[in-house]
Amino acid sequence: MSTANEQLPEIIQGGMGVGVSNWTLAKAVAQAGQLGVVSGTALDTVLARRLQNGDPDGSVRRAMAAYPDQDLAKAILDKYFIEGGKPADKPFKVLPMPSLQLTRTSVDMMMMGAFVEVWLAKEGHDGVIGMNLLEKIQLPTMPTLFGAMIAGVDYVLMGGGIPLMIPGILDGLAGIKSVELKVHVSGGEESYFQQFDPDEYCPVGITELKRPKFIAVISSDTLARTLVKRATGHVDGFVIEHHSAGGHNAPPRRGQYGPRDEVNLAKIRELGRPFWLAGGCASYDMLEAAKVDGAQGVQVGTAFAYCRESGILPEIKQEVIEKYFAHKLHVETDFNASPTGYPIKLIELDGYEVPDESTRRCDLGYLRSGFVSKNGEVSFRCPSSPVSKFVERGGSSDMCAGKQCLCNGLLSTIGLGQVRDGEVIPPIVTSGSDFSFLRYLLDSPHDSYGAADVVDMLQGRTKVS
Ligand SMILES: Cc1cc2nc3c(=O)[nH]c(=O)nc-3n(C[C@H](O)[C@H](O)[C@H](O)COP(=O)(O)O)c2cc1C
Repeated sequence: MSTANEQLPEIIQGGMGVGVSNWTLAKAVAQAGQLGVVSGTALDTVLARRLQNGDPDGSVRRAMAAYPDQDLAKAILDKYFIEGGKPADKPFKVLPMPSLQLTRTSVDMMMMGAFVEVWLAKEGHDGVIGMNLLEKIQLPTMPTLFGAMIAGVDYVLMGGGIPLMIPGILDGLAGIKSVELKVHVSGGEESYFQQFDPDEYCPVGITELKRPKFIAVISSDTLARTLVKRATGHVDGFVIEHHSAGGHNAPPRRGQYGPRDEVNLAKIRELGRPFWLAGGCASYDMLEAAKVDGAQGVQVGTAFAYCRESGILPEIKQEVIEKYFAHKLHVETDFNASPTGYPIKLIELDGYEVPDESTRRCDLGYLRSGFVSKNGEVSFRCPSSPVSKFVERGGSSDMCAGKQCLCNGLLSTIGLGQVRDGEVIPPIVTSGSDFSFLRYLLDSPHDSYGAADVVDMLQGRTKVS
């Protein structure tokens, strides 16, 4: 008998960080028979903040009660849970920033954050759940994957880089074997690796875990070929992402996007692995066209980002939808804003200004990158931190121009923003450039739609009215 796990999905709901593709969205998509994906970005902070907000519906504590090491679950609750939630004008407690050598405190939060998100997404149905991670965010990757695998994650998807080592890491973690990840460090003459021994953290009684399928999110056929040839383990498929997609995009080959940035699908087909097309694919026609091109289906982000189940604050969803209907929605590719150096698509909201330089503070650090400091040690810095700090750490002030603090801004978009000087940090909203799906999903900007409506629309079933 074939199970849902053996069949490849036609639709992948794209991973959207931080917390836009949360467990509620991924679960709804999986229940609609497609691949629901949780974002794996910053889940340690998401966990700590949901607990400090009092976990109002009890879901986080329900998942933690299912974790096979209850001493750890209790220790985390004791540290972060606040009955009734913290006062709205008080800041959240922040977590220590990780380094090349991981501490137990960091690993515990990364693993538990990932476990909770995947466990909740999988609760009460037998559909398939994936986790999306960004290659650029390296330090939390291995413990996050391990926590997700303890919860039985079915797929791992990774974009934003060349994830050559991840397939082998998944093989190792499945066998509870030591793994290592090469960390990008500028200015060093040697290679630097982060080590992770799952045996040290593995709850008693677990001797092996399911190895999730690995899908690389890429924007070039050369990269797909490289991954097939040189990855440390099996790559089960590809999402081919066009530069119209939401979130970060691959930089253009020449100055601006043009024909050279289009992926040669014939070359992808030659690799013989399943693939999905992403970026402006949110329609029945696009899904059918993708299949004619040999794709398994499509990955869709923006259409799911604005549905009821996603993590974006309802008032932000409403504003964006109203702007679209009023022909006032502008999605701009910003080539400077992201500390990763990749272009990112942003939407300007009313009533917020980009925080000025004097208010910048790097207290989350997910997008820091490695460098070798004067004393020869590996350290980390972010161009969205205050310029003086970045320069102190050997960076050049030019690299800070136009940078925004994505870590803090994206957390504000999902209602988990830090409070500074009594005010919540302004949100940062990323989206794809194609919103034409809204005309098929909504008759009026005051209606809303669910994840299952998006799946119905993509598969050519009825328009919602
Ligand atoms: C709000 C938002 C956040 C995103 N964050 C991520 C991310 O963290 N990792 C990733 O690989 N892709 C991310 N994406 C890209 C989506 O996974 C997906 O590939 C893309 O949105 C598809 O294009 P579409 O938006 O036109 O449907 C994001 C997209 C959106 C809209």
